[in-house]
Amino acid sequence: MARRNIYQVGDPVLRQVSKPVTEFDDKLSQLIDDMIDTLIYADGAGLAAPQIGVPKRIFVATFDGGSTIIEAVNPVIVSAKGKRVAPEGCLSVPNTHEKVERPRHVVVHAFDRHGNPIVLKADNFPASCYCHEIDHLDGIIFTDKSIKPKKK
Ligand code: NI
Repeated sequence: MARRNIYQVGDPVLRQVSKPVTEFDDKLSQLIDDMIDTLIYADGAGLAAPQIGVPKRIFVATFDGGSTIIEAVNPVIVSAKGKRVAPEGCLSVPNTHEKVERPRHVVVHAFDRHGNPIVLKADNFPASCYCHEIDHLDGIIFTDKSIKPKKK
């Protein structure tokens, strides 16, 4: 495992539409291990592959103080219900927290690193996190969607 550099807002890789993973090989496993290492070291909740400069459809996330680690390859939101507005931040956007409206409940279909299909069901914070990370795979940064205080 190796920590990778986290690309910051302004870098064009964060605005690319990432490509689906087609090879579930050792190289993919290495990449996911590096993403997890990078995420944990940075003390974040989620990290998408383009954030380390790799425009592939992969994200990792960690919840429950690090006891839960999620990895998702080629994730797709198949169900989204309810609404929740909560502040978000991003390892690629330093010192910024802004409120974003997300679905309260989501179901995500994805694959693990071996190519086995997985189903991720999430509510509240993890649901927002999955949506935030999947947005990264489409070149969307949370500040694009944030609810900015209205100026008088
Ligand atoms: Ni982010």
